Amino acid sequence: MSKHRTILSLLGIAALACLALMQQDRIVTADDAPKVDKKAEKADEPTPEEKEQQILSEFMRRKLDASSQILEGLSVEDYELISDGAMKLYKMSTVEKWRRSNDPLYRQFSSEFQRVTQDLIRAANEGSLDKSALKWMDVTMKCIECHRYVRETLVTGAEGDANKS
Ligand code: HEC
Repeated sequence: MSKHRTILSLLGIAALACLALMQQDRIVTADDAPKVDKKAEKADEPTPEEKEQQILSEFMRRKLDASSQILEGLSVEDYELISDGAMKLYKMSTVEKWRRSNDPLYRQFSSEFQRVTQDLIRAANEGSLDKSALKWMDVTMKCIECHRYVRETLVTGAEGDANKS
């Protein structure tokens, strides 16, 4: 029992770390940064690009709902909640909108994410709390790693643009 409690507190920490990273600031990508500057004055009407960004943003944020569903499932030992949340994450990662970047590393992060979400689904279906907890940590690590990559690569691109002006 205390083993479970340790795992659950680790999970809490992992989830908080993930959330903290998300909150830091929304991930800015190469094509965002210049846009914001240009459109700042005539603010009211969102441009098509801004609308698109908003839709993408909402899509990406849905990962948080699925994640808290998984954390809830782990906390109350509800395997259906866990596998349902993991399935949502897996499915999201297979749709067009997910493919924010076409570079090989981004695709690799995506396929690793698909692998660990499937592992989590399997662990939940086996009814193993310990295994599900460990797999959830793997999933959380992938959230963090991919975001770090996106920040570092796509943000560097934006800086390159800024240097031109
Ligand atoms: C394979 C890469 C990848 C993985 C894995 C990934 N994300 Fe993301 N996420 C992105 C990208 C790319 C964006 C930014 C899109 C943009 O704004 O350009 C993003 C944005 C976000 C945002 C910010 C949305 C906003 O605009 O407010 C949240 C929150 C988020 N992700 C949560 C998660 C969570 C939780 C996980 C893990 C369960 C996760 N992500 C896993 C690529 C990933």
